[in-house]
Amino acid sequence: MSILKAVRGTRDSLPPETELWNHVEATTRRVFARYNFGEIRTPIFEDTSLFARGVGEETDIVSKEMYTWEDRARAQSEKAQSLTLRPENTAGVVRAYIEHKLGETGLLQKLYYIGPQFRRERPQKGRYRQFWQIGAEVIGPSSAGSESPLRDAEVLEMLAAFLDELGIEDWRLEINSVGSAADRVRYVAALREALAPVKDRMCEDNQRRAETNPLRVLDSKDENDQEIINGLPKIADYLDEDSKAHFAAVLAALDACGVKYDVNPRLVRGLDYYTRTTFEFTHGGLGAQNALLGGGRYDGLSEALGGPKAPGIGFAIGEDRLILTLQAQTEQAATLADAFIAPLSVDLNPAALELARELRRTDLRVELGDGGFRLKKSFEIGNKLARKIVLLGQDEMQSGILTVKDFASGVQVKVARGDLAQALLVTANN
Ligand code: HAM
Repeated sequence: MSILKAVRGTRDSLPPETELWNHVEATTRRVFARYNFGEIRTPIFEDTSLFARGVGEETDIVSKEMYTWEDRARAQSEKAQSLTLRPENTAGVVRAYIEHKLGETGLLQKLYYIGPQFRRERPQKGRYRQFWQIGAEVIGPSSAGSESPLRDAEVLEMLAAFLDELGIEDWRLEINSVGSAADRVRYVAALREALAPVKDRMCEDNQRRAETNPLRVLDSKDENDQEIINGLPKIADYLDEDSKAHFAAVLAALDACGVKYDVNPRLVRGLDYYTRTTFEFTHGGLGAQNALLGGGRYDGLSEALGGPKAPGIGFAIGEDRLILTLQAQTEQAATLADAFIAPLSVDLNPAALELARELRRTDLRVELGDGGFRLKKSFEIGNKLARKIVLLGQDEMQSGILTVKDFASGVQVKVARGDLAQALLVTANN
């Protein structure tokens, strides 16, 4: 019989790697709370039209990469509903913002999420079909300050603080402005015009993009086409005065708080909802898939989904890529338990369970052996799993004095049962 494996592009996370995931997520919650973000959890599947209208019909994500199916109709008269596993979470958050009338509070909504997303991309290092994002969105009526460049700068400063707190070294922030929706229309027209006489000299992919979505030509990595791409019009020359002033104010606020950035005039991003500020944080250690995270402003998204005017800005971090970067930086050691309890005979198993329960209540990490093991075997297993071994025999039960051996130093001591948790705690925290 053939052995079943995880589906191509999906992965299992096992300990000790899962400890790193938990550490990243705990850091997320701690740092984001300082900026007063609250958590939102939206469904993993949504009506397909949410992504078609939100992310954009012409984007690679919607046109090629979504997991979409027709849900069964409940009655014969009913049409089957088209459903899609979310390829990203911004559209879902904005849908929830509209559905729950969060705009009526008159306040900015600052929401974050941690969860799996699904895209049918070609799997490679750092690119999966099920991947995790840590994202956040700041959205609300203009009267609440949602359009202010200070929001953009604050979100970017939070990301810098988050990556620094996690200990990610050498990240790089690339930033650009793609202007208002009207600026973009003028820019895309100029791009089409500039591409028309040269596109036949470009690779097949770029020839297609020049027709369907000329903005995508800009982030092409095809080496032979770089010269042509570098000569194409720059979006900065098509921004209206408002967009220019907005971008300048974002950069000035970043300068003021010392967040370093590079302006990348070719950074247009692959989702259609962006307006004005767009950004990516990259990391050299990631190889071809070097974007640790991406985001930007989406001032018209709520209206495109039938909601009120609600400008917003947000980002999503590729959690898988964050983990890869952290793993490359540090050799991860398996976490050892604080103590391995070794009952010396089977009839002491219940007493050993009770001792383990007592220690775990004090937050110690405890492994429990088995009285059926020979002493030698208990030492062997204990040495692999824990820093110390606690022996529990008849003598120990009667005297209340336990033998504790530290594997690293080889030192063996006698400890009164009442003092055991404290003794283990002290070394656990060292
Ligand atoms: P995105 O650039 O499509 O933006 O994805 C954000 C990040 O998710 C990427 O920078 C990357 O780290 C990670 N990512 C994307 N696809 C994959 C994949 N197949 N495998 C592993 N990681 C991946 C968005 O999704 C927007 N919703 C971000 C946003 C929020 N903009 C405004 N608010």
